[in-house]
Formats: sequence, structure tokens, C-alpha cells
Amino acid sequence: QVVTEVLQAERAIHDEALPCDSAQNRLLIKNGKVVNEDGMVDSDVYVEDGIIKQVGRNLIIPGGTRIIDARGKYVIPGGIDPHTHMQLELMGAVSADDFYQGTKAALAGGTTMIIDFVIPKKNESLIDAYVSWRQNADEKVCCDYALHVGVTWWSDRVKEEMEQLCKEHGVNSFKMFMAYKDSFMLRDFELYGVFDKCKQLGAIAQVHAENGDIVAENTKKLLARGVTGPEGHALSRPEDVEAEAVNRACVIANQVVDAPLYVVHVMSKSAGDVIKQKRGQGQVVFGETIAASLGTDGTHQWNRCWQHAAAHVMSPPLRPDSNTPNTLLDLLVLDVLQVTGSDNCTFTASQKSLGQNDFSKIPNGVNGAEDRMSVIWEKGVHSGKMDPSRFVAITSTNAAKIFNIYPRKGCISVGSDADIVIWDANKTRTISAKTHHHAVDFNIFEGMECHGVPEYVIVSGRVCVDEGDVKAVQGFGRFIPTPVFPPYVYSMVQQREEEKVANSVPSAAVQNDTGDKPSTP
Ligand code: URP
Ligand code: ZN
Ligand code: ZN
Ligand code: ZN
Repeated sequence: QVVTEVLQAERAIHDEALPCDSAQNRLLIKNGKVVNEDGMVDSDVYVEDGIIKQVGRNLIIPGGTRIIDARGKYVIPGGIDPHTHMQLELMGAVSADDFYQGTKAALAGGTTMIIDFVIPKKNESLIDAYVSWRQNADEKVCCDYALHVGVTWWSDRVKEEMEQLCKEHGVNSFKMFMAYKDSFMLRDFELYGVFDKCKQLGAIAQVHAENGDIVAENTKKLLARGVTGPEGHALSRPEDVEAEAVNRACVIANQVVDAPLYVVHVMSKSAGDVIKQKRGQGQVVFGETIAASLGTDGTHQWNRCWQHAAAHVMSPPLRPDSNTPNTLLDLLVLDVLQVTGSDNCTFTASQKSLGQNDFSKIPNGVNGAEDRMSVIWEKGVHSGKMDPSRFVAITSTNAAKIFNIYPRKGCISVGSDADIVIWDANKTRTISAKTHHHAVDFNIFEGMECHGVPEYVIVSGRVCVDEGDVKAVQGFGRFIPTPVFPPYVYSMVQQREEEKVANSVPSAAVQNDTGDKPSTP
């Protein structure tokens, strides 16, 4: 009931911000190059009441419609960032970007929807945590959003609540931590249980893949040796610790039998290799990497300036290897990885200094919601590694498909939400904490020059970035329910199940009256 009330309130705010039947409500984007994951076409786009109504040339439109000339520019689906942590309480601090500032920053960079993580405390009701997240987000979000829910403990009650979240609250994904021992970490038998439940529900099981036991042992050893600085963070959780957990999660998902798996923040070459191998063997596993791992690297954790080094601390860690960003980008090109997020979880310098004398107490997290699109365009498209269609696939379409909101989101087509970015690939901007919209005074991409600037960012037909000016409205965004059984994830799984059932029936039982025998397995 609380949720229904919250939903109604949120719709009222949205409708107020989007007056009906006014010229403001109609928009014609002319002369641009429309990019979808499957191709590019020179086309106009007409928007009315928050929906894309026409795509084509010589469109007949009502008078008084606002016209935006997109000649020489790309018209792309608004970015979907499937991995953010706004105002998250983590390691004794609350992340600095709240749902207002974080989504405003996202909008400024061309992202029109985020998927944030509800992280219940151990023994906390998942539903209570979800309701509290909805309340925090609904009053503040400037762009649309959905929610994943963390499963941080395991019991019959959690199982029931997962079901309720899927059936009544628009949740179709659950994140499990294999790290953060003593707070969020699940054991293997618990992961098995959650993956099994997810498969029954048609939900997506997501894992933070790092071996938490090994991290804890390495941490003790390093601290005992006097390694207390931010570099200790990277040293305590080397690549193997990530790759082992990715492999283990895949093995467990496979033991459940074809449970789909989504590995969040793939940060290392060896973790990427595991996913490549498992996909090659036919496992239904998806991989996400993040702006940070593509746009910077872990050598910064050795920076002489403590604040600078600590600002780069996140988990799994950025790798102290200058070639990792290129490799991860190649894996996105090859479809070993399908999705890019930001893992935006910002902490101020004073919050980071909780770990001044002990790296294991530095709140984990970096920025990325604002700069994700630019960083990926620069490293991917501007460099010539991928075309604009692949860019669209990895920044919006694939996330929309996996979380089952495609084609409402993630494409420019008739009937889709009018979440649109007019992207000027000829303009450049230099990333800086001095100009960004985040609530912190540090940016891990500081000084990076990016080709590709979101000149207009449109959410539900409302121009939220207008010729580069950010005009965010607090509370304007909507909660977007994510239905279970996304075909992109489950069609293969279901087909395999059906095949198995067909092949396991004793042949006599299915002999029909024409005497046909079923095919042998
Ligand atoms: O360091 C990180 N990634 N912080 C956010 C929480 C998480 O594990 O995703
Ligand atoms: Zn994580
Ligand atoms: Zn510094
Ligand atoms: Zn995260």
C-alpha cells in the first residue's frame, strides 16, 4: 500500500512537470543521424506526450511544435546506467551523490535512466529496504530509474520477499556479494539457493565476484606488515581473487542448471577471460564493466597524495596495469561483455579519510554516472574500435533487454519512451571536478579530453539538457518496473528446459495414435 501511495505521488509530480496539451509537449528533432543498436539512418523524430510518435522524413506535425536541428549530430537512445549507488550507506559513510545530485550528473552526461541497488542490512526485510529506497528516490530523481535488490542474507523469509518483489514491486534482479565478509557476503550454498530462486522467478542473479575470505586474510597480512595505505587495497585483492569468484559463480549457476548469471563490474582481464570461456561453453552469463575500468587504471592507488590514491579505491579494485582498459574495451567489442555501468558511489575526501590509517576502512567507490557516456565514446568510438551502433548497444540497448524494458527503453522507435540524446561528436570537453555535477570535489577522469558532447538530453519528451544547459527537475523521474522473464535472458534457458522435458519422457508414454515415436535424445 505504501508503494501504491508513493507511485501515485510520483505520477502527480511527473504530470505537473509535464503539462499536457502544450507546445512544450511536442518536439521535432530534424536532420539528425538516428542510431539504434542495429543500424543508423538519417531521419527526423517526432515526440508527443513523452513518447516517440513518428520516425521518418517529411513528417506531418502540428503547428507550434518545438524544432531542434540535429544536422551533423547523432540522435541516440538516452543512456541507461544499470549500476549506481546513490545515497548508499557503506563502510560507515553515506555516498555523497544523493538521488537528486547523482541523477542530475547522470543527465548532464547523457544518461536518462539509472538502475540503483537496494542494499538491505543483514536480517533486514528486503521489502522494507525497497520501500525506503523508493521513498528516497521518488522525491529526488531527475531521470527515470529502476531498482535491483541485494540479497545480503538468506532464509525462507528472504525467499518469500524475493517473490513478492518480483510479483508486486517491479523488481527482476538481485545482487549477491561474494566479498564484504561479515557484512553482505553470502556463502556458496546460499548463492546456490538464491540462483535457484531467481531461476524459478525468472529474475536475473547478479554477483559482485571477489573471494571475500581471501581478501580478509590478505588484508590481515598486509596490515600486520605495516602496509596501511590505499595501495594495500589493490594488493589485498589481486586479479585471481576476482577471476576465482567469477568462475565459482558460473559453476554454481551451472549446478542449479542453466541459471542465468550477470557479473557486475568486471574489472580485470582474467575475470573477462573466465566469462569468455563460459560463454563459449554455452553458459547464459552476461558481463558488465564500468566507466572507471575503461577510463583510468589502478596505478593511481600508488599516488603520493593520499587523497588522490584513496579516491581511486573501489571493489573489485582498478587494476595497476595500463593495458586492462584496452582489453576490457576489446571484450565489449567482441560481445564477451555486453553492458557498461558506472558503479557511481562517490565519497568526499573527508569520508575517504575514515581509512587514513587502514586501507580496509576507506569507503569503496568512485564517480562515473556523468562521464560514462563520454568516456566510452572517446575510448570506443572516437578511437575507431566500435561504431555508434555498438556504443548504443553497450550504453543502453543491452541493459534494456536484460532488465526487460526493451523496446520501451534503449531504442529510438515509434512507441518508445522519448528518452533521447543529441550527441555532437565534433565537440570536445575536458572532464574536471571543477565543472562536473557530482557532490564531490574529485573526479577520477580529471583532465581527460573527450570528443562527443550531449548537447540535448531528453527524458520522457522533456528537454533536461538544452544546448548543454542542465535543467534538471527534482522528482521528475519515474520508477520503471522491470518485469520477470526477459526473453533476451530466458528464451534459451526455457528452450533448454523444454528440450530436456521432451527428451526425458519415456517413449511409450508419448507414442501417439499414428504410432510416431519421439526423437531420441
Ligand atoms: O567499490 C564499490 N564498487 N562500491 C560500491 C559497492 C559495490 O560493491 O558495488
Ligand atoms: Zn559490487
Ligand atoms: Zn592529488
Ligand atoms: Zn556497485
